[in-house]
Amino acid sequence: MGNKTWSQGMSLPLPLLAVLMVIAVVVSAGDEVALLAFRAKVGDGGSLASWNSSADFCSWEGVTCRHGRPARVVELSLPAMALTGALSPAVGNLTFLQKLDLSSNGLHGEIPGSPRHLRHLQHLDLSDNQLVGSISPELGSIQSMQILGLSSNNLSGMLPLALYNLSSLKIFGVGSNMLYGSIPADIGNKLPTMQVLVLGPNQFTGTIPSSLSNLSDLMMLSLNYNGFSGYVPPTLGRLGALQDLYLTENRLEANDEEGWEFITSLENCSQLRRLILSSNPFGGQLPGSIVNLSTTLQNLRLDDTKISGSIPADIGNLAGLEVLLIVNTSMSGVIPESIGKLKNLIDLGLYSSGLRGLIPPSVGNLTMLTRLLAYYNNLEGPIPESLGKLKNLFLLDLSTNYQLNGSIPVEIFQLPSLSWYLNLSYNSLSGPLPPEAGTMTNLNELILSGNQLTGQIPSSLGNCIVLQKLLLDKNLFEGSIPQSLENIKGLNILNLTMNNLSGTISLTPLAAFEPYTNCT
Ligand SMILES: *[C@@H]1O[C@H](CO)[C@@H](O)[C@H](O)[C@H]1NC(C)=O
Ligand SMILES: *[C@@H]1O[C@H](CO)[C@@H](O)[C@H](O)[C@H]1NC(C)=O
Ligand SMILES: *[C@@H]1O[C@H](CO)[C@@H](O)[C@H](O)[C@H]1NC(C)=O
Ligand SMILES: *[C@@H]1O[C@H](CO)[C@@H](O)[C@H](O)[C@H]1NC(C)=O
Ligand SMILES: *[C@@H]1O[C@H](CO)[C@@H](O)[C@H](O)[C@H]1NC(C)=O
Ligand SMILES: *[C@@H]1O[C@H](CO)[C@@H](O)[C@H](O)[C@H]1NC(C)=O
Ligand SMILES: *[C@@H]1O[C@H](CO)[C@@H](O)[C@H](O)[C@H]1NC(C)=O
Ligand SMILES: *[C@@H]1O[C@H](CO)[C@@H](O)[C@H](O)[C@H]1NC(C)=O
Ligand SMILES: *[C@@H]1O[C@H](CO)[C@@H](O)[C@H](O)[C@H]1NC(C)=O
Ligand SMILES: *[C@@H]1O[C@H](CO)[C@@H](O)[C@H](O)[C@H]1NC(C)=O
Ligand SMILES: *[C@@H]1O[C@H](CO)[C@@H](O)[C@H](O)[C@H]1NC(C)=O
Ligand SMILES: *[C@@H]1O[C@H](CO)[C@@H](O)[C@H](O)[C@H]1NC(C)=O
Repeated sequence: MGNKTWSQGMSLPLPLLAVLMVIAVVVSAGDEVALLAFRAKVGDGGSLASWNSSADFCSWEGVTCRHGRPARVVELSLPAMALTGALSPAVGNLTFLQKLDLSSNGLHGEIPGSPRHLRHLQHLDLSDNQLVGSISPELGSIQSMQILGLSSNNLSGMLPLALYNLSSLKIFGVGSNMLYGSIPADIGNKLPTMQVLVLGPNQFTGTIPSSLSNLSDLMMLSLNYNGFSGYVPPTLGRLGALQDLYLTENRLEANDEEGWEFITSLENCSQLRRLILSSNPFGGQLPGSIVNLSTTLQNLRLDDTKISGSIPADIGNLAGLEVLLIVNTSMSGVIPESIGKLKNLIDLGLYSSGLRGLIPPSVGNLTMLTRLLAYYNNLEGPIPESLGKLKNLFLLDLSTNYQLNGSIPVEIFQLPSLSWYLNLSYNSLSGPLPPEAGTMTNLNELILSGNQLTGQIPSSLGNCIVLQKLLLDKNLFEGSIPQSLENIKGLNILNLTMNNLSGTISLTPLAAFEPYTNCT
């Protein structure tokens, strides 16, 4: 019975009309009563002021109705409305509901079982609340469900097997809870339309079932921060739609005999964007086939693994990379010249990995780079002056390689974005600190300890007025300490010990640091 029929005043017999109107009022009042029951259990801090009797409930904040008589609530969408309290079972009476979004509130207590009555529900988002106790198997009976978001709550226990019966599910997120158990081996045959599957952080264990490779629509698989073990299925590359594979902090393995096949198979994923293998006991040599992954790859992280071998010479093939982390690994060998082809690189972390040899001058071609960290390696030889082309670099740390030598290229001091810190400490750098060091007017920390720098400390250093930390200890500086350092009002750590300096300076707030300014 649509609006049109009523407004045109079709000639229904009067008694029948009255009966229909009463039914309409009773049913729609049912939705209003359910909404009021929902509201009665939550604190809203004023965000539900529009939920008052002077207005039709269909116009209340977050409520969307289906047109017609009676009007029925099809959507209740109140994300980030500062709701507190419990989730009333009355929402189960909104039987026309298609979408229930109460994410990013402060709801606590358990998820009531009543939503099982919601036969039309497609989208249930309760993520980012403080919901406890376990996930009810009854949610598994809502066959219309496409999006189920339960992440960032205090849910515990196992995932009910019934959830794997939701064969229309496209997006499923239960990360940041305290769930445990394993993924059923046949998952790949049960959720054929799955696009986004987020299971971490939680306490899931067991292997990653190879049947996952059958979820042909899967775009994101996030298993971060769990206890998954064993090998990554070698068939994963059958996920032709895969964009993001997050495996951080599990117990996943690989060695020279087995376990790396999945990298080769991922060559088939032409839309791959993120491959995150961090913090797993992956070992053995990094497979050379990694250079054949799609050029759509933006983010490759291999940090905190036991991966050995060298960076493949053709790493430059991965032209889409924005973030490359080869950090705290067992890798060795040189930084390939081809790295200079990664023109989109923003963040390059190559530290705490036994890299050796020269820093290739081609690194200077990475003009988008904002952070370059290559400390705790065995790099040697000069710092290429081409690094002076890195106009966006705000952080440079080449410290503790011990064998970087020659003088510091003057171009380094002229990097216009260098602001966070410049750390070249514990190397074999020689020559003077040039007057151009004074152009680093945005730099917060300058660390050159443990080198063989000579000559006077240039008085221009007093122009580096935002410096908070200046460490020049363990060098061969001589002459007197420039009085201009007194201009640096925020300087709170100054270490000039173990040089051949003379004189004193007074740094206003720094009486306490006098010992570190002592001079021989
Ligand atoms: C929900 O529906 C049940 C069964 O129809 C009814 O007993 C109950 O009073 C309703 N609750 C609310 C709050 O509407
Ligand atoms: C009731 O809600 C309407 C909007 O639906 C609003 O304009 C009005 O101010 C509200 N009344 C009170 C008392 O909050
Ligand atoms: C939820 O978990 C957090 C962190 O473990 C804890 O601080 C908080 O008290 C828990 N809340 C409830 C309602 O259990
Ligand atoms: C899943 O659905 C099938 C068929 O409807 C049913 O037989 C089975 O009991 C369900 N499994 C669970 C765990 O609910
Ligand atoms: C993937 O699905 C096919 C049928 O579509 C099935 O034969 C195969 O066993 C499944 N693979 C896995 C690993 O479950
Ligand atoms: C990759 O795709 C090719 C061509 O479609 C296919 O022959 C090959 O088996 C696929 N490899 C994997 C690992 O899925
Ligand atoms: C990368 O792909 C090319 C072309 O398919 C192939 O010739 C080469 O052997 C592959 N490299 C590795 C290391 O697998
Ligand atoms: C380096 O990685 C190992 C795992 O391979 C980890 O146990 C260790 O804590 C990491 N070290 C640092 C300093 O992060
Ligand atoms: C990259 O850097 C190298 C060495 O600095 C230089 O010879 C080469 O011309 C650069 N290539 C491009 C494309 O800028
Ligand atoms: C600088 O280091 C390179 C590479 O280790 C070495 O060949 C060269 O002799 C060193 N130069 C000086 C002056 O020590
Ligand atoms: C280099 O100096 C910065 C700034 O003080 C510091 O945060 C960083 O830890 C240092 N690097 C190393 C490897 O110690
Ligand atoms: C200053 O440098 C010396 C020499 O490297 C070192 O022993 C001392 O601990 C440093 N002082 C501070 C406060 O860091």
